[in-house]
Amino acid sequence: MTTHEIADGRVYVVGDAIETLQEYEGEAAAIFLDDAWARPRRYGHFGVEYDTHPFNDEQDAEGYVDTSITTKEVIDACYDALMDGGWLICDADDWLLPRLITHIQDEWGDVAQSYKGGGYRKVGGVTYTKSDGTPDRSTAGMYLSTGGYPVVFAHKNETDRQTAESARQIASNPRDDYDWGSVKPISPYESWIEGLVDPEELILVPCAGTAPAALAAESLYGDDARYACIDNEEGAYEAFKQRRQDEITRVRQESL
Ligand SMILES: C[S@@+](CC[C@H](N)C(=O)[O-])C[C@H]1O[C@@H](n2cnc3c(N)ncnc32)[C@H](O)[C@@H]1O
Repeated sequence: MTTHEIADGRVYVVGDAIETLQEYEGEAAAIFLDDAWARPRRYGHFGVEYDTHPFNDEQDAEGYVDTSITTKEVIDACYDALMDGGWLICDADDWLLPRLITHIQDEWGDVAQSYKGGGYRKVGGVTYTKSDGTPDRSTAGMYLSTGGYPVVFAHKNETDRQTAESARQIASNPRDDYDWGSVKPISPYESWIEGLVDPEELILVPCAGTAPAALAAESLYGDDARYACIDNEEGAYEAFKQRRQDEITRVRQESL
């Protein structure tokens, strides 16, 4: 495990997600997870060339390259790393979504049904638009395109972190993939972090890649942002550094 210091209170750890999450037990106000899930035949497509792992130990062997951890275990490690009332916000797709919701309902609770305690709260999502504002239908799919992705919201036990910010956001599809693949836009995370996390509170970004949630926290809270990104590949850290530099340049140019 190598910890790269980005700035005061901000690190990018190159190491395993589960091992590293264990270092932060009960500390995170929010965790933003875009897991390296292994939908069958996902590896090698859609720019996915990093380790992917099965949802659980029973998943069919086809389509993943790393059997050392499962998505279920990552979710459970996220639970332990959250403080009471902290939020888990997970990107998903059509395959992952029902599995994710079922697991969280079973293990964390189902607050969407019970209206008390914690657990699964709701499904939101991100809809991609083109530069003219119309929906981007470039997502592959001959049985309807989605032009975006669903996002699952859950919290650990009861929470007083509340916001009327929309769980459904609109964003443009990131143009650059930083040679990493599955790169997500920053702006939806800005909305959710502003609603649910205060400055100086810790956010965790396991399976971080270019870590758009961390960049969102920095763009909102500047030096008061606190985050730990975690990815098991040094190449992901390099991609993050490049994206962060581009963001700094973009913000400087906008202020001129
Ligand atoms: C879906 S991608 C994240 C992309 C990110 N949302 C972005 O916008 O750049 C999942 C990431 O999980 C990482 N990963 C795979 N197995 C991991 C593990 N065991 N521990 C930590 N990271 C892992 C991959 O290297 C990959 O960068």
